[in-house]
Amino acid sequence: MLETTRHYHITTFGCQMNKADSERMAGILEKMGFEWSEDPNQADLILYNTCTIRDNAEQKVYSYLGRQAERKQHNPHLTLILAGCVAQQEGEKLLQRVPELDLVMGPQHANRLESLLEEVFNGNQVCATESIHIAEDITKPRRQSTIVAWVNIIYGCNERCTYCVVPNVRGVEQSRRPEAIKEEVEALAKQGYKEITLLGQNIDAYGRDLPGSTQTGRHLYTFTDLLYYLHDLPGVERFRFATSHPRYFTERLIQACAELPKVCEYFHIPFQSGDNDLLKAMGRGYTHQRYRQIITKIRELMPHAAISADVIVGFPGETEKQFENTLELVEDIGFDQLNSAAYSPRPGTPAALWHNQVSFEVKNERLQRLNNLINLKAAERSARYLGRIENILVEQENPKNSTQVMGRTEGNRLTFFEGNINELKGKLVPVRITATRTFSLTGEIAN
Ligand code: SAH
Ligand code: SF4
Ligand code: F3S
Repeated sequence: MLETTRHYHITTFGCQMNKADSERMAGILEKMGFEWSEDPNQADLILYNTCTIRDNAEQKVYSYLGRQAERKQHNPHLTLILAGCVAQQEGEKLLQRVPELDLVMGPQHANRLESLLEEVFNGNQVCATESIHIAEDITKPRRQSTIVAWVNIIYGCNERCTYCVVPNVRGVEQSRRPEAIKEEVEALAKQGYKEITLLGQNIDAYGRDLPGSTQTGRHLYTFTDLLYYLHDLPGVERFRFATSHPRYFTERLIQACAELPKVCEYFHIPFQSGDNDLLKAMGRGYTHQRYRQIITKIRELMPHAAISADVIVGFPGETEKQFENTLELVEDIGFDQLNSAAYSPRPGTPAALWHNQVSFEVKNERLQRLNNLINLKAAERSARYLGRIENILVEQENPKNSTQVMGRTEGNRLTFFEGNINELKGKLVPVRITATRTFSLTGEIAN
C-alpha cells in the first residue's frame, strides 16, 4: 500500500475517443488510490493521452513531454506515461527518444492501466502496443460532467482512407455487445446522467463483427437496432452519436432518428471533399451526389436538423477547381459547424508517399478561404434560431458569468441564459433565443 496519497494528472489531446479513454484511465487511477491534481507540476504521475491525426498534434505532445522529462531528472519518483495514438504509432522508439518514460501504451490497452502500472512499480519500463481484444471495462470512469457522458460502442476502424492514421493506431473494428452497452447506459442513468453520446470512428459499422452477423449474411445488430434497443431506458433524455460515414449511412437510420424522440436531430457526417476524383483518391467510397442525397433526405424528414462535418483541404493533387467543388458543397449545404484542416502527410499512410503534394502556402490560402465561408454559413445557421423556443439541457454555470447557466440545443448549439445552476442543472429547460452568434446563442427562460 502507498503510505502517502499520490497525485495524478492527465492531459488529453485529440478526439472524443481519447477523452473517453482518459476518463476510464482516471477511474482506474482513483480506484488505485491516486487523487487528481490540476497542476501537472504537483503530480507524482503524469499521463499524456496523445493524438497523431496531424503532425502539429503529434509535435505538441513532444514539447509537453520534454518539460516533464526534465522535471523527472530532479524528481526520480515521478511516473511518466505516454498513452494513446502517438504511443501506438511510435511504440518502443519513444523509450529511446525519451528514456525518462516509464510506460508507453496504445489505446487498446487503456483498460489495462492498473496491471501495466504494477509492472512499472516493480521497476520495469513497459511498452504495451500489441493489438489485443479490448476487455470489457469494469472500472467506473471518472467523468468530467455529471450530466452528459460518452459511451464507446465500437472501437477501431476497418476503413482505409488514404490520408488517415486511425486504422493503424486504433486497430480493427471491435463492437461491444449490446447488453454491455445497455448496462453502462442504465448505470449512467441511475447516477443522474441525462445525455449519452454513443461513440465510434465509424459508427455505422457497429455490429458487423459481432458473432452471428456473418453467418446470416446480414447484421443481427446494426447501429439502428442499437438505437431502438437503448432508446426507452428511463432517465436518459437525449442520445447523440458520432461519427457517421456517408458510405454506410442508411435511410433506416434517418427514419429511426426522426421517429425516436430522445435521439437528437443532429448529425456529424464528415464529407472530406466536394470533388468526386478526390473522394476516390481518398478511398472514401461515395460521391458528392450521394452525400447531398443523404442531407436532402435528413432535411426532408427533419427540417430543423443540425448538420456538422469534417473536411480536408490540400489533399495531394487537389487543383483549384477541385477545391472550388468543396467550397460549392459547403455553400449549398450550409453546415451548422464544420471542422476544417489542411492535409497533413502521416507516417504509414499511402497518400503521404504520393509525389503530387500541395504546397504549404496553397494549403493555407485555401484553408483561410474555406474558413471564411464556414463562419459565414455557421452564422446564417445560428440566425435561424432567433425567436425560437429551444429545449436546453443545462450542464453547468457559464464560467464567464455566474448569473448565467449554459447547455446545448438539440442541434448542439451552445446556449447561455440567466438562471441558477443549483435549480437548473440537468434539467431540460425551454428557452426563447434572443441573440445569436456564429457558434453560440443567448436566450431567456420561456414561460
Ligand atoms: N472517423 C471519422 C474521422 C476521424 S479523424 C471519419 O471517417 O470521418 C477526424 C478528422 O480528421 C477526419 O474526419 C479528417 O477530416 C481529419 N483528418 C484525418 N487525417 C488527416 C490528415 N492526414 N490530414 C488532415 N486532416 C486529417
Ligand atoms: Fe480514418 Fe477513414 Fe477510418 Fe475515419 S473512416 S477513422 S477517416 S480511416
Ligand atoms: Fe487523434 Fe487518435 Fe482520435 S489520432 S483524432 S486521438 S483516434
